[in-house]
Amino acid sequence: MKGIVFTEFLDLVEDKFGLEVLDKILTQSDLESGGVYTSVGTYSFSEMLQLLQHLSAHTSISIDDLLLVYAEHFFGVIEESYPGLLATYKDPIEMLSSIENHIHVEVRKIYPDAELPTFEVVEKTQDSLVMIYKSSRAMHHFGLGLMNKTFEHFNSTATIALEKLNTDGTEVKFVINKN
Ligand code: HEM
Repeated sequence: MKGIVFTEFLDLVEDKFGLEVLDKILTQSDLESGGVYTSVGTYSFSEMLQLLQHLSAHTSISIDDLLLVYAEHFFGVIEESYPGLLATYKDPIEMLSSIENHIHVEVRKIYPDAELPTFEVVEKTQDSLVMIYKSSRAMHHFGLGLMNKTFEHFNSTATIALEKLNTDGTEVKFVINKN
């Protein structure tokens, strides 16, 4: 997992919950990296999972809700870092249906070791999209947060339903309807 995902996460935790909570979850976790992250490094996903688990236990906020809020913050990082990539799109449905064949393809060129999910488009109309998310990381709520913000970016909103296709959440169907 890319360092920027960690550094932005730690910044957000400090911002929302304070330095004491950040310190506490870093100390509680058994981190290969020693809890020192640079935005250009690469770290194991199990470190992110431990940080999320400890933060969730401490705050009584579910991991899914933490990932949702974090993704909404992360979209701002994307807007700042990759304005050109976003400018390719005029419409949220077009953008979301292009994650697999364009957006994450470009991400992979920048970060060859990125751990990315797959999004298979099952159905697409002008105002709706059905996609299947697959990833061993089960970060579907990170996807949901990015989707919400994608609509907001285009001054639009959508109703997004998420259906887990297996219990561990590594396969999830997203049904997206533009409002
Ligand atoms: C992960 C970039 C748009 C869904 C990531 C990661 C990066 C990235 C750098 C982390 C990879 C790693 O840590 O190894 C981008 C950029 C985008 C974009 C630059 C737009 C220009 C989107 C959108 C979605 C999405 C619109 C909406 C569903 C995800 C998910 C992950 C992810 C769910 C977590 C990894 C996983 O589930 O396996 N993306 N992304 N991305 N991205 Fe994107």
